[in-house]
Amino acid sequence: MSIDLTEETITGAVQQTFDESKDDRLREIFVSLVQHLHDFAREVRLTGDEWFTAVNFLERVGHVSSPTRQEFVLLSDILGLSVLVDQINHGNGSATDSTLLGPFYVEGRPRVENGADISGGVAGMPLFFGGTVVDPEGRPVAGADVDTWHSDGDGFYDVQQADKLDGEPAMRGLLATDDNGRFSFRSIVPRYYPVPTDGPCGEIIRAAGRSPMRPEHIHFWFHAQGYEPLVTMLFRGDDPYLERDAVFGAKRSLVADFVQHEAGEDAPDGTVMAEPFQTVEWIFVLEPGRR
Ligand SMILES: [Fe+2]
Repeated sequence: MSIDLTEETITGAVQQTFDESKDDRLREIFVSLVQHLHDFAREVRLTGDEWFTAVNFLERVGHVSSPTRQEFVLLSDILGLSVLVDQINHGNGSATDSTLLGPFYVEGRPRVENGADISGGVAGMPLFFGGTVVDPEGRPVAGADVDTWHSDGDGFYDVQQADKLDGEPAMRGLLATDDNGRFSFRSIVPRYYPVPTDGPCGEIIRAAGRSPMRPEHIHFWFHAQGYEPLVTMLFRGDDPYLERDAVFGAKRSLVADFVQHEAGEDAPDGTVMAEPFQTVEWIFVLEPGRR
């Protein structure tokens, strides 16, 4: 019955409308969602003005979102939902720890050869990254797709400076591992940065008096036949924001050594460098596919 509903009976009435759904998982999710959403409103005694503010907020999150501005992802990130979902679905211990995707992954990234310079001409301290992708037994995973993306030395991604870069991608690329599971690229050293606060999510951050800062990191997303995809990132150990990541994604298991080298030393690709540079090496372990 859905007439003369009260604060108590409306929840069951809405949940009942999913009874006939042929999709068991959809019914499970919506029945639970309605329960928690209604309990939440009852618990905080949500006012009409507050409800309207929330609807207006979500509308603005939608309006500001685009393929290169993922405000909904950011909202999920700053509320800890992205990392929670990741924790629920990963973390059996045999593979490299995963973490959140973040709002700066974009589809339009170039496929590049190993060893390529992916900086897109953005100035900064050179960084040489070398990675090996293996299975839990340490056997190399060949032919894995490796997406990587990171900020510049001021903490900005290419999509945040599209005007300056004429919309060209920079500091991101899609690589593939060779027969030894190896991949490598040259770029520039990234830096810690604030999540974007010029949109609706910034209002929450300011209202809470929270820090918007994320520790410095390099993003990776691995896809390989027969393995679970892995979304992860590497951090640096001496980062001032490592223990207070605005989106809760930092993990000690993902702290890498960013090794400092002086001018005149050889880079991993054999180049004699005329300026200081950094190198990072990491072994990524993929979990075999679950089906
Ligand atoms: Fe990031």
